[in-house]
Amino acid sequence: MDPLFDAQLIPRSVTNQLPSGYRMRPLVSSDYDKGVLDVLKVLTVVGNISRSQFVDQFNYWKSKKDMYHTLVVLNEQDRVVGCGTVLVESKLIHECGKVGHIEDIAVAKDQQGKKLGLRIINALTEIGRAQGCYKIILDCSEHNVKFYEKCGFTRGGAEMVLKF
Ligand code: ACO
Repeated sequence: MDPLFDAQLIPRSVTNQLPSGYRMRPLVSSDYDKGVLDVLKVLTVVGNISRSQFVDQFNYWKSKKDMYHTLVVLNEQDRVVGCGTVLVESKLIHECGKVGHIEDIAVAKDQQGKKLGLRIINALTEIGRAQGCYKIILDCSEHNVKFYEKCGFTRGGAEMVLKF
């Protein structure tokens, strides 16, 4: 196993609350075969990604020490049923402070409503806190606002976008 980040950063207090038989751990490069890309398809277009592209991206993330924290939730059959990322950005402002960006949260359609999304966000926010972030931010659609409010987030500034 080659975890993307230190598994100890995932708090016990969160993993203890997963449904029986489920577990949470950092992404590993062999998760290509466990369905992580299928899970991400509930979020947006994923496209065709080969195993070697997946592994290259994993290795790139891993080379950026303490930046990419992508975790997965696996069910009793050892299939990925949920995933999410907190990206830790190091800044100059706030005395060289750090901001956590929560990205690409997805729970497989037939697994939604079991509090897996909540557990993923709880784990990612605690990882961000442990990595020294002074705040955690994310962008989401209006229809997910209530979910993030249940995870303890409040509305911040407006989101702006320029698409290519
Ligand atoms: N609107 C209102 N309430 C919601 C919603 C919603 N869209 N989604 C979940 N909730 C509520 C649940 O009812 C539950 O409430 P309760 O505590 O009162 O029972 C609470 O939020 C926790 O819900 P979970 O069971 O943890 O949610 P789930 O595991 O289904 O995950 C998620 C939620 C991640 C939004 C999932 O539905 C999903 O994968 N959706 C498709 C992809 C997506 O939109 N991802 C988020 C993109 S934004 C980003 O990535 C930063």
